[in-house]
Amino acid sequence: MAQIVTSQRGPVTGTATAKKKRRPFLLDLYSTAVGKKYVMGATGIAMMGFVLFHMIGNLKMYAGAADLDHYAHFLQTLLYPLAPKGWVLWILRGGLITMLFLHLHAAYSLTVMNRHARPVKYQSKRDYQIANFASRTMRMSGLVILAFLVWHLADLTFGVVNSEVGKMIAHPGDDEPVKAVYASIVYSFQRTPVALFYVFANVLLGIHLFHGAWSIFQSFGWNNPRFNTWRRAFATGFAAIVVVGNVSFPIAVMAGVVG
Ligand code: HEM
Repeated sequence: MAQIVTSQRGPVTGTATAKKKRRPFLLDLYSTAVGKKYVMGATGIAMMGFVLFHMIGNLKMYAGAADLDHYAHFLQTLLYPLAPKGWVLWILRGGLITMLFLHLHAAYSLTVMNRHARPVKYQSKRDYQIANFASRTMRMSGLVILAFLVWHLADLTFGVVNSEVGKMIAHPGDDEPVKAVYASIVYSFQRTPVALFYVFANVLLGIHLFHGAWSIFQSFGWNNPRFNTWRRAFATGFAAIVVVGNVSFPIAVMAGVVG
């Protein structure tokens, strides 16, 4: 009868017991699809906050040049004299750039992961029935928004394609001149192709936001079907508010309401 050996043999060399060096927890989590989805969701929420407040701030345009220019000046001198002029804005910009970079990186690496998991495309149309229009166009709308952002910064922040950017104006009652932001927006949207591009890009931003706002709940695992009506209402409402506000600016300038 064969004897059962119960004693366990120790490792022959030290290498067998050498501990695998663990990556820090957050990097470990980020290497998984779930971790990347968390990052997409968290950075998405931060950028949703930015686009909403950016749009609300820009509504000052309807109150006139002095109001909008003072608002821009307020942002540039945030927390002054506690912090030197411009510092807080640069910290906020740094946060925004980090969010954008992480969002893009997570999106890219999730795509690569999905391709490796399923190198052959579905032969049938069933995935198209499940995924709606917004979700299928996320990558395309994301790239258009990125192109829009490059133009937008070159236009209204750096003035590469806008001769009004950097000019200063003293409104009645001002001690010192402030940046003429209102004039640079009007200059920008008086070029019809530019205004139309803003409209187009912001409609795509709306589609992107709709699917993004809907997916956040999925990313964090809060996807009980009981809340689907509420989720859809939130995603639709959020996207609609941002798009209507943003699209109204170029249209108002083209229509001569603002100018
Ligand atoms: C039609 C809608 C929009 C208008 C009228 C508008 C207007 C402006 C203006 C005037 C500035 C320069 C502010 C300054 O120099 O003081 C600016 C900066 C900026 N905008 Fe917009 N914007 C619009 C839509 C958007 C959208 C949809 C995004 C994001 C997807 C965006 C992202 C930014 C960013 C990141 C900056 C730079 C902020 C900074 O560095 O201070 N904007 N925008």
